[in-house]
Amino acid sequence: MSQQWKRTVYKSVCLSLALLVAVTVFQHSDTPNQFLHRPPSPTLGLQKPPGNPLKPVGFWKTPQDVVPPTAEASRGPQVWDVTTTNCSANTNLSHQAWFQGLEPHFQQFLLYRHCRYFPLLLNHPEKCHGEVYLLVAVKSVVTQHDRREAIRQTWGREWASAGRGRGAVRTLFLLGSPSKQEERAHYQQLLAYEDRLYGDILQWDFLDSFFNLTLKEVHFLKWLDTYCPDVHFVFKGDDDVFVNPANLLEFLADRRPQEDLFVGDILRHARPIRRRDNKYYIPGSLYSKASYPPYAGGGGFLMAGGLARRLHHACDTLELYPIDDVFLGMCLEVLGVQPTAHEGFKTFGISRNRASRLNKEPCFFRSMLVVHKLLPPELLAMWGLVHGNLTCARQLRVL
Ligand SMILES: *[C@@H]1O[C@H](CO)[C@@H](O)[C@H](O)[C@H]1NC(C)=O
Ligand SMILES: *[C@@H]1O[C@H](CO)[C@@H](O)[C@H](O)[C@H]1NC(C)=O
Ligand SMILES: *[C@@H]1O[C@H](CO)[C@@H](O)[C@H](O)[C@H]1NC(C)=O
Ligand SMILES: *[C@@H]1O[C@H](CO)[C@@H](O)[C@H](O)[C@H]1NC(C)=O
Repeated sequence: MSQQWKRTVYKSVCLSLALLVAVTVFQHSDTPNQFLHRPPSPTLGLQKPPGNPLKPVGFWKTPQDVVPPTAEASRGPQVWDVTTTNCSANTNLSHQAWFQGLEPHFQQFLLYRHCRYFPLLLNHPEKCHGEVYLLVAVKSVVTQHDRREAIRQTWGREWASAGRGRGAVRTLFLLGSPSKQEERAHYQQLLAYEDRLYGDILQWDFLDSFFNLTLKEVHFLKWLDTYCPDVHFVFKGDDDVFVNPANLLEFLADRRPQEDLFVGDILRHARPIRRRDNKYYIPGSLYSKASYPPYAGGGGFLMAGGLARRLHHACDTLELYPIDDVFLGMCLEVLGVQPTAHEGFKTFGISRNRASRLNKEPCFFRSMLVVHKLLPPELLAMWGLVHGNLTCARQLRVL
């Protein structure tokens, strides 16, 4: 390909993106108060969690032991305090026989496992100004702009109020940097432009690879603890799922942000996969136990804001594990919190039978909270059907 041709393609991509986003931004320009500063707000995130006298007091000390004199003192840094990346490979490992026997991507993971936090490239502290009822955080990668676009048009649409005076619903996308060198320069400019228009992208300076999804998890929890201490609830999910926000809000209506709420599609007694050809293969040298603690499918789960902040501190006591949703299950185990299973979360697919009629049945989607997996055209189509003229039988309701 000639350089000239590449430039032309890039310019036209930029231009069409710009048009698309300009139209959307114009449509959304009637909600300016999203960027206003927070009024003196209630200190929900600081209230005591339900006390449990039997719980051992660990490294992170439960909040009931440390009653803060002021709201500010109980918090860690209030800005992202990681500004440089200076993390070299852990060469201690290279000489060990068990390490040399591992597949290259596990070696890569282990060599950099101690590199815990990276600088923020794109930040939006204002997303948590004012009273935020539900923060929707979506794992995404730089190249998949179309998925972000579909989500902004459907379940990621922001509301100034979640209804009944409960505070706002805000959406953020969580990104690392592109893992392919050639993607970096071009896509980074597009991303910066996209972010100037929508203002909804958090990006950190680590490679967006499958094993680094755990880094994304811990970076998000740290971000939440830093910038979003008062959020009531958090939904975290993938960018290829269908979410029904009305059902999420209905489910949350009688929950309290102080509860140990962690709900999703829960796997119990799952065993590490030992077949080498599987995406989720884990060698015995990395995890030797027979089964994992209970964990929620990463496709989409809900948690209370207070619990999310405690999870940040719990996760900090553990070494990173390459599978992000399992890792979060390990953090929950540290806190002694059991995740709750809910029928409305179908993050491991609806029916094992791919041809099942349920996969295309809008009444089914209307009754669910989260369903895996839909690509942008399917998501837009299903969203239209679910919010259109639909008559459904009653027995499909699961809430
Ligand atoms: C990065 O780390 C290396 C070794 O740990 C050290 O020698 C070097 O001075 C550090 N560089 C910066 C910029 O901090
Ligand atoms: C490598 O080993 C040395 C000595 O045991 C230790 O001090 C150092 O922290 C280790 N490096 C890493 C990255 O774990
Ligand atoms: C995770 O990101 C860091 C920082 O970019 C990189 O050094 C490391 O190799 C990545 N790990 C994996 C397993 O991709
Ligand atoms: C909804 O469905 C009814 C009955 O099928 C039909 O008469 C009506 O025109 C539809 N309305 C819309 C907005 O599609």
